[in-house]
This record gives sequence, C-alpha cells and structure tokens, in this order.
Amino acid sequence: MNKTPLGRYPALRLRRMRGADWSRRLMSETTLSCDDFIWAIVLKDGKGLREPIDAMPGVFRLSPDEAVKAAIEARDLGIPALALFPYTDADARTPGGEDAVNPDNLMCRAARAIKAQVPEIGLMADVALDPYTDHGHDGLLNDGVILNDETVEILVKQAVVQAAAGFDIVAPSDMMDGRVGAIRQGLDKAGYQNVQIMAYAAKYASAFYGPYREAIGSAGVLQGDKRTYQMDPANTDEALREVGLDLAEGADSVMVKPGMPYLDIVRRVKEEFAAPTFVFQVSGEYAMIRAAAQNGWLDGERAMMESLTAFKRAGANGIITYFAAEAARVLRRG
Ligand code: PBG
Repeated sequence: MNKTPLGRYPALRLRRMRGADWSRRLMSETTLSCDDFIWAIVLKDGKGLREPIDAMPGVFRLSPDEAVKAAIEARDLGIPALALFPYTDADARTPGGEDAVNPDNLMCRAARAIKAQVPEIGLMADVALDPYTDHGHDGLLNDGVILNDETVEILVKQAVVQAAAGFDIVAPSDMMDGRVGAIRQGLDKAGYQNVQIMAYAAKYASAFYGPYREAIGSAGVLQGDKRTYQMDPANTDEALREVGLDLAEGADSVMVKPGMPYLDIVRRVKEEFAAPTFVFQVSGEYAMIRAAAQNGWLDGERAMMESLTAFKRAGANGIITYFAAEAARVLRRG
C-alpha cells in the first residue's frame, strides 16, 4: 500500500470531501445494514412474560410466546436471525446439566414455536452447559477440574437435540477442545448435514459477560472463573490457532467474543482465514452504552450505531447483538 499522500497541503485538503452530507455518503467505506444482525434474545419459561433484566435495561427475558412476537418483529425489520439463550432457576440446575439434552427444554420449545410461525427466520442455539449446571460452568466439573472429552460427548447430544427442534445454526460457546469436529460428526450421523456450526472460536475469559450471567441465572451460581477453558485477554496468536482448528474441524463460520475490546482479533481472523467471521457485542458492552446513555453521559443511539459500524469496519460479516431490533429501526428510519 502506498502510504505517501498523492499530494500535499495546501493543494490537498481531506476536509474537502467531508464538507457535505452527499460527499460523506459517497466516501463512506463501510455500510451497516439490517442484514448484518443476529438478535440475541433471553428466554424464560412462562406465558406472556417480559421480565426486565436489571443489568441490561431495555432487554427482557421472554417466554416462548413472546419470543415468537420478537421473531415476527425481527422478520419485519429484515433481521436475518435470532440467537436464543435460556434462563434457568438455580433450583432447576443439576451438577451434570441434564436439561441441556432434554428435547422438551425451554430452548427447544421456543425454537419449535418460532419455526411454526416464522419459518423464514434463522435460529441460532448456544451449545454449552452453563445455563443448566448448578456450578455455572460450561462443562462437567470434577474436583474443580472441567472435564473436556466427557463434556464434548454431552455437547454433541445437545446440538443434535437443538437441530431436531429446528435450530439452523448451533454455536458451541464452551471452548472445549475438539467439540466442533465431534458436533459435525454427530449432526451428520443424525441426518442434519445442513445445520450450520458457528464456532465461538476465539472466546475470551472476560469480565464483559457479567450482565449475561444475571440474565440467564448464573450470577450467584458460578463457582470460580472460566480461565481454564476461555482464552487469556492478553493473547492474539492463540486466537488464530483456535480459529484455524475450528475451521479444520468443520466450522462454517467463526466468532470473536467479546466485540469492542477485541477488534484487532476480528481483523486478524478475517485477514488470515477469509472465512465468514462474526463478532459478539456482549452483555457488558450493551450495558455500558445503555448505562452511560441513561445517565445522559453519551448519546446512546449514536454510540450504538458507531459501535456496530466499527465491527463492520474491523472486518466482521455480522454481529450478534442485543441492540439488533433497535439498530434496525434506526437504519429503517434512514
Ligand atoms: C456461555 C455463554 C456466555 C455468553 C454466551 N454464551 C457467557 C460465558 O461464557 O460465561 C456471553 C454472552 C454475553 O455476555 O452477552 N457459554
């Protein structure tokens, strides 16, 4: 790339191009559209339920019938897909997280209800045990150690159950080694060759998941932290190794998570692999923008749109975000 400017001040004035709206529109290098969003939705058992989440103002736990309404709204706004996450009461959790493989669990019931009424919307399922375990970890816990291969076996069953319920994308977020290949094999064997895998490939052990833990009922439950399986925020080469492995094992697309503090990872992953690359604007990122806006400390709408545009600029093909519907309404308004 030629970094020498093709000219010099005063003949060259970059402000000339920024002088009017029509010119700024022509100059724009990145376009955000409703097609870029996967809307993150939190489910809770019930009927007609829209329960506020304290740490995520504007986000509600939705019962399956309310999730159907959200799916209709998403379709009408032109949002391609929803990502569903289940809330589980502490007393319904078990050490082995058995409800994860129950074909009638909340996730599966919601998926069936949505697909019955809005078949054209894409549905993504989180594959991990943390909403179901009484210790809040993504895998099986034995004497303080997360068991890898034993967990992978259950994740395969969970993914197959989700595919059977109508999910189009299964998204393993657990960070166990070898799970993408095992899930691909399990899906194929069960006849779900066309169900996609989006690997949470570069997932960091992040403080920015805090509000999500409240949202799904893991907040008071989680024992210790997830640093033996999620990545060290200091690392970037390791992210490329994780992504490379997941693609080799059969991931259709990969994800970087969290989003805004990790834009350098998004850029490296996109440049290195040229694969469909997604980014998750996680609960803490949502909460920060929302809280500052509520305090009048920044313009919430502009911060939302700027953050989403930044993901596209960094190289993401799409964004999983709690802001999807709101941002889509802003885009539609023009
Ligand atoms: C769990 C999972 C997490 C998120 C998505 N799936 C949290 C975690 O790993 O502890 C985070 C989502 C968010 O913060 O918005 N496997």
